[in-house]
Amino acid sequence: MNIYLISLFPELIQQATSFGVLGRAIKQQQLTLKCFNPRDYTEDKHRTVDDRPYGGGPGMLMKVEPLYKAIMAAKEIAGNKVKVVYLSPQGKLVNQKLLVNIAAAGDDLILIAGRYEGIDERIIELLVDEEWSIGDYVISGGEFSALVVVDAITRLIPGVLGDDESALQDSFMQGLLDYPHYTRPETINGQIVPQVLLSGDHKAIQDWRLKQALGRTWLRRPDLLDAIKIDDSRWDEEKAKLLAEFKDEYQQ
Ligand SMILES: C[S@@+](CC[C@H](N)C(=O)[O-])C[C@H]1O[C@@H](n2cnc3c(N)ncnc32)[C@H](O)[C@@H]1O
Repeated sequence: MNIYLISLFPELIQQATSFGVLGRAIKQQQLTLKCFNPRDYTEDKHRTVDDRPYGGGPGMLMKVEPLYKAIMAAKEIAGNKVKVVYLSPQGKLVNQKLLVNIAAAGDDLILIAGRYEGIDERIIELLVDEEWSIGDYVISGGEFSALVVVDAITRLIPGVLGDDESALQDSFMQGLLDYPHYTRPETINGQIVPQVLLSGDHKAIQDWRLKQALGRTWLRRPDLLDAIKIDDSRWDEEKAKLLAEFKDEYQQ
């Protein structure tokens, strides 16, 4: 998969993408990441990348011409089918389902990282296919949002994670939160590991984990549980039974 990033701070992107899963995926060419810096498309001697907003008021906007040229340069390499996304607090909220679809399609992306008060509305109308938000809060630059999106997509590209199963059992993948995890030692300050995990009984462990995932989701994100109950194919008698058991144990 190829991702093209439009950013005034490509060094920030390069630094952050050289570690962990992302760094390995790039090294193994499962993902290519190329930055286009609007500053490289300026023509004045100060290499200006910001401009004042019409109508006045506080803050600056990204200067139109260098931004436009940087996006067009990325489009020229990526081809016309590429999806152009502007990271924006006004966009649709990014969730696992959206990212699973993107990773499965394997289509290339251009991600525009805004700075200052954002970008000219006409750039959005002319060049942007979708606006994505990482949450209902405002951060100072789209690089961080782009990195969140790139990281989350990368771990879903087949073959990127050592054990593909580990993405499948992550929170949200099956519509539930993940179950609790434990590692050595068996006891920490008197807190012991649930005994079933030491039993070697794979079926019992699997049931326990599903019960915990259901219970956690019921406690912390009942909205997710409601959603999978509506989608009948993901809700069955076994889940209903395990959740009922969890509720009984929780209320005791
Ligand atoms: C200071 S913000 C601009 C916010 C803009 N004035 C608004 O209120 O909608 C600068 C840039 O950070 C990025 N950004 C900020 N919050 C974001 C969010 N929740 N999701 C995605 N990108 C965000 C966008 O690229 C935005 O252009």
